[in-house]
Amino acid sequence: MPALLVAIAVLLLVVSLPWWLPKIVISLRVRIFARINGPDGVLVPGPEIGIEHFRQLYAHPAANGRSRGAALSDLFWYWLAPGPQVHQEHLEPGARYDDVARTTRKILARPKGEVERVLARVVRDYLGELAVTGARTVRLRELMMPIWADFYHQLVFEKPATAHTRKLIVDNANDVITALKCTGLRHMDVRDRLTRFLREAIDNDDIPHPLPAALTPEEQAWFLQGTFFNTAIVQMSEAMTHLFLVLARNPEIQERLRDNPDDDRYLDHVMDETFRSYPLFGIAHRITTDDIAVTPELTLPAGTVLCFSYADFHASGFENPHTFDPDRWNHLSARTANHIPFGVTQNRPCPAKGIAPLTMRVVVREMLAAVRFHSSATHVRSIPNRGPCVLVPVEDRAKPVARLAAQQLRDRAEDVTRSVSQLFLGTYMVWDARRQRLTGRYFADHETAQSVGGHE
Ligand code: HEM
Repeated sequence: MPALLVAIAVLLLVVSLPWWLPKIVISLRVRIFARINGPDGVLVPGPEIGIEHFRQLYAHPAANGRSRGAALSDLFWYWLAPGPQVHQEHLEPGARYDDVARTTRKILARPKGEVERVLARVVRDYLGELAVTGARTVRLRELMMPIWADFYHQLVFEKPATAHTRKLIVDNANDVITALKCTGLRHMDVRDRLTRFLREAIDNDDIPHPLPAALTPEEQAWFLQGTFFNTAIVQMSEAMTHLFLVLARNPEIQERLRDNPDDDRYLDHVMDETFRSYPLFGIAHRITTDDIAVTPELTLPAGTVLCFSYADFHASGFENPHTFDPDRWNHLSARTANHIPFGVTQNRPCPAKGIAPLTMRVVVREMLAAVRFHSSATHVRSIPNRGPCVLVPVEDRAKPVARLAAQQLRDRAEDVTRSVSQLFLGTYMVWDARRQRLTGRYFADHETAQSVGGHE
């Protein structure tokens, strides 16, 4: 009898693993990261600083340091290598930053009609390649990457990518995001292959845009790689994964969009609600370069690492913030609500804030016209499961019940195994990044060239 009870207890423990183990592992991981990373950072909003100061602080001119002086930066440099020192996101303000940011803006500045035409063709060709003639289980993140690889190649090179180049780009972006999510280690050989390809293109004058003159050819290759073949591919694929996962889990919203392909207003509300509920940045950090008086009682000294929590900001000031409700945007303005999917205008906003929604609309329209999306997987902000989804041809109205049941089981089981491996891989990478001291060593070498304010 006791043996039977023990067996039942063990069975219950094993069966219930997916409901409790991932949560324990996540909190353990957060604690280990915080410990290894040091007492580094003031969370906004947090115990010291209320939500009412969020925007004012984020937009403050002295909240402009990016990499120098924060242990967190070592980790980002490690994940974004090679060439994180010239990645626009991590450059200190100054002449080099201005040169890089100007070039990014120029490459992205294309007429709306041209962007829509090029991307619609890319998606149609891709759908032709995919040939969805029956139910197919996919991971949305991987499904989306080739589309963005083709599109951003077209923007940078002004010509279509070959299959080989597309693979180089996808492999690079995949390696970065896998390491960022701690679901795998980084593979510098994979990333260096793309750098060599870009370097060769620069040497052969194959890039039809002037590149930042302040950078060496190698740095120019890293700049292109970092902004257009890493960040652009990763961010757009993640944004589309969230959006299609929302549609897969809310068939009535998916149907309404498919039936009304010209209703941009409703699509924008769905997109805004998706950005609000699943912001791509969990936290954006800044290092203060001067004292900031937040209140008469609280002055933050220069060198403070501010960690702005998008999820907390996006959840405040909304009725039932944890309910997914696109219709809330009928009465709200995305400009005045606590909603900053692309950052704050005054402090290094996303250079793709114009082109990103435009291109997302095109991909939604083209994909919804060809396939239906179903999913039974969990949907959380960090989407470590890469968006499991079942695609069926648009004519097929039956729900793929058996596949969805299998998907749910698999998703829950993977939650357990993945969270444990994320704990180990993440801990290793945090330790390795700290050990390499990428930012500390870089800024020591460039001490004379860059001041804390970053002017060169
Ligand atoms: C829907 C897609 C995207 C979202 C939601 C998004 C979101 C953001 C946010 C919130 C920031 C500001 C972070 C901060 O304050 O530190 C940012 C910065 C940035 N994003 Fe995006 N992004 C998207 C797509 C892209 C694309 C397609 C590109 C490249 C073409 C891109 C390139 C950058 C760069 C270079 C920065 C740094 C800007 C600077 O520091 O000057 N993003 N993005």
